[in-house]
Amino acid sequence: MKKIVVTGGAGFIGSAFVRFQLERYPGTKVVTLDALAYSGNPANLEGLDPERHRFVQGDIADPEAVRTAVEGADAIVNFAAESHVDRSLMGAEAFIRTNITGVEVLLRAAREFGVQRYLQVSTDEVYGSIDEGAFREGDPLSPRNPYSASKAGGELFARAHFETFGVPVVITRGSNTYGPRQYPEKVLPLFVTNAIDGLPLPLYGDGLNVRDWLYVDDHAAGIDCALRQGVPGEIYNIAGGNERTNIELTRKILALTGRDESLVKPVTDRPGHDRRYSIDASKLNALGWRPQMPWDDGMARAVQWYQENEAWWRPIKSGEYRAYYDAQYGAR
Ligand code: DAU
Repeated sequence: MKKIVVTGGAGFIGSAFVRFQLERYPGTKVVTLDALAYSGNPANLEGLDPERHRFVQGDIADPEAVRTAVEGADAIVNFAAESHVDRSLMGAEAFIRTNITGVEVLLRAAREFGVQRYLQVSTDEVYGSIDEGAFREGDPLSPRNPYSASKAGGELFARAHFETFGVPVVITRGSNTYGPRQYPEKVLPLFVTNAIDGLPLPLYGDGLNVRDWLYVDDHAAGIDCALRQGVPGEIYNIAGGNERTNIELTRKILALTGRDESLVKPVTDRPGHDRRYSIDASKLNALGWRPQMPWDDGMARAVQWYQENEAWWRPIKSGEYRAYYDAQYGAR
């Protein structure tokens, strides 16, 4: 693939994927299309070779911006999304616009310009919660919050464009992703940066909800595998193989930042809080992908990155973030 358009490439997982492409495939050029909404950050793309990487600011729900970026591309990989469950509980309009309307605009451009692959980055949250065992790709969609409902909606449009118009769509469903450059509204960077500052860690409910943790570079490699080896019309789970309760995750963060449990502040639970996510990634394993990062190493690396890159997250934790934080946690 000579030219790949990465939408949402200035975000957390998108920027890791952009770097992965440029490092792994010397013959590939990348165009990042990103609206630079609150969590998109040009700093995530610093230092890339301008001969091989071009940044275009634009919204995936804007057909003209999309057509300009996509013309001549071999593939579109769509990371652009409103991704935070708690924000979707405060209002779903932006989620519908980006995660459904934006996806449909991209699919129309994929069809118009005849791209070889359209990869829709989705989430294990579309399956809903599972008490035992792990979801497979053929299991029914059962999203339980506005965020995951919007991601399921985007997937259904992708599926529709494959079936109706033959757009070569591949869908990936990833687990909870962690690592450097994650916007500090998500639990891991929120707790790490609060712990660094000696601030409370607001743990929802009983702290026993389970998430499966996937290192960001492993997620990028899994998406790349599905993009290049996957079959159009198919869905691939990308699991980390690290299921942890939130209290286990919290204790790990406390140990790595040298803090004790007095920082943990149990707060009112998230409404509709999914108890456990678990997915089976055998289908992608069969194409050759395996996560490489062991849990202890990944956590040590991630925490160290936030410790060493305060210049990245301190400016974020003011302004819009402060207003969100007060609205989200103020009354809890
Ligand atoms: O599973 C994949 C999904 O993982 C992605 O599709 C989403 O975009 C991503 O946000 C993430 O969703 P979660 O809701 O699992 O992530 P979050 O970091 O918000 O929360 C992780 C767990 O930590 C969850 O059980 C809620 C809990 N939590 C979260 C926050 C922000 C807390 O206990 N306290 C908090 O302040």
